[in-house]
Amino acid sequence: MLLKNLILLIAAVVPLASAASIERRKHGVRGSTSPSAVTGFVKTSGQEFTLNGETFTVVGANSYWVGLTGLTTSEMDQAFSDIAATGATAVRTWGFNDVTTPSGDYYQLWTNGTATINYGPTGLENFDNVVEAAKSYGLRLIVTLTNNWDNYGGMDVYVSQLTGTDYHDYFYTNPEVIAAYENYVNVFVSRYLNEPGILAWELANEPRCAGTTGVTSGNCTATTITTWIEELSAYIKSIDSNHLVAIGDEGFYDIPTSSDYPYQGGEGINFTANLAIPTIDFGTAHLYPLSWGETADPIEWGVQWIENHAASQKAQNKPVVLEEFGVTSNKTETYTAWYQTIISSGLTGDLIWQAGSYLASGPTPNDGFTVYPNDTAYPLEIEYAAALKARNG
Ligand SMILES: *[C@@H]1O[C@H](CO)[C@@H](O)[C@H](O)[C@H]1NC(C)=O
Ligand SMILES: *[C@@H]1O[C@H](CO)[C@@H](O)[C@H](O)[C@H]1NC(C)=O
Ligand SMILES: *[C@@H]1O[C@H](CO)[C@@H](O)[C@H](O)[C@H]1NC(C)=O
Ligand SMILES: *[C@@H]1O[C@H](CO)[C@@H](O)[C@H](O)[C@H]1NC(C)=O
Ligand SMILES: *[C@@H]1O[C@H](CO)[C@@H](O)[C@H](O)[C@H]1NC(C)=O
Repeated sequence: MLLKNLILLIAAVVPLASAASIERRKHGVRGSTSPSAVTGFVKTSGQEFTLNGETFTVVGANSYWVGLTGLTTSEMDQAFSDIAATGATAVRTWGFNDVTTPSGDYYQLWTNGTATINYGPTGLENFDNVVEAAKSYGLRLIVTLTNNWDNYGGMDVYVSQLTGTDYHDYFYTNPEVIAAYENYVNVFVSRYLNEPGILAWELANEPRCAGTTGVTSGNCTATTITTWIEELSAYIKSIDSNHLVAIGDEGFYDIPTSSDYPYQGGEGINFTANLAIPTIDFGTAHLYPLSWGETADPIEWGVQWIENHAASQKAQNKPVVLEEFGVTSNKTETYTAWYQTIISSGLTGDLIWQAGSYLASGPTPNDGFTVYPNDTAYPLEIEYAAALKARNG
């Protein structure tokens, strides 16, 4: 999701949470209450995910904030507990925060073109806690390693620090930028090589030719980003043969004859070409009809989007996950229709945008999409996680 409006909400939550984060503690042993011990690595077989030879259903929610907002480990526990209670198996989260001034939880500090990775309690040690908390509720993480948007740093910080320009697409082509991102990816991925709590690595949240400012070099096409995906996904595979790799994109098609924005290819993503890349294990798609100008019948437009991605999944015989979807009103009828279509179309899995919890330090970020445990959409998550598992046998 384009998180432009979140910064203010987060800023309201962070000061309280940061004070609480001083009180970090080790996780208690809760093996006896764990729904299922997290062991083994999730793999793919045709259009399915598998775990230890059995079908594994990828279903759950996004929580970009769990490793970013100064949560104590007991607050992380609460957040994952609320997600796990829906029947979730997976949570997608941000494994990045590129800052130019140290503040709160961050993973990389940039000064004068030099990046310093934060290994300490507000950095990678904090992410260790995220992984442990997720596992203690039987959950695995899909970890996204940078952002197309300027929330939590992301691509534009690399570009401005290393090229002195604001051409967003230099992220995909400038050799120094690619080397710096590969260095970050190497440190992050290598730390968790043998960690079954990681389900997959994702190259970027919603990569596009243009970022938040819209400024590009004018030279970016879908081929530019496909080439970058080939290089980065092969790079991760070269250091980590245990974990799956995906893109984290919105699943845009590149059909220039289409008059429909998410199908006509203007953002530099060709879902069909990218899904064919051998080092990409599964496809990802997002679904925000109202943000994409699909206002005439957002529910039906989303039904068609899901069916088209299920068709791509079948054509290429690889799993596809609707890993973000959301509306801010009409949630019950919209999610009911979309969840039913996921099940009937055969789409492999889904993760709603986004999970919410009431924590000791206050509510987690609410961007209007957030589903807290007492919201009416929460029982739908429960119902359709069970239905997806039942479909998968
Ligand atoms: C960064 O560059 C500025 C201006 O050249 C300088 O004042 C500052 O000390 C440098 N910071 C570091 C950490 O090197
Ligand atoms: C775009 O590509 C052309 C041709 O390779 C090159 O001359 C030009 O410098 C590029 N523009 C930018 C802003 O990088
Ligand atoms: C997108 O990729 C598919 C599969 O490689 C290809 O057939 C199609 O021509 C591409 N779209 C464009 C506009 O190049
Ligand atoms: C909610 O759905 C109803 C019926 O489908 C529709 O008439 C109404 O415009 C929708 N409201 C919003 C805010 O999308
Ligand atoms: C859910 O619970 C929170 C915290 O107790 C409360 O502030 C909020 O009003 C409740 N929302 C609903 C829809 O009941």
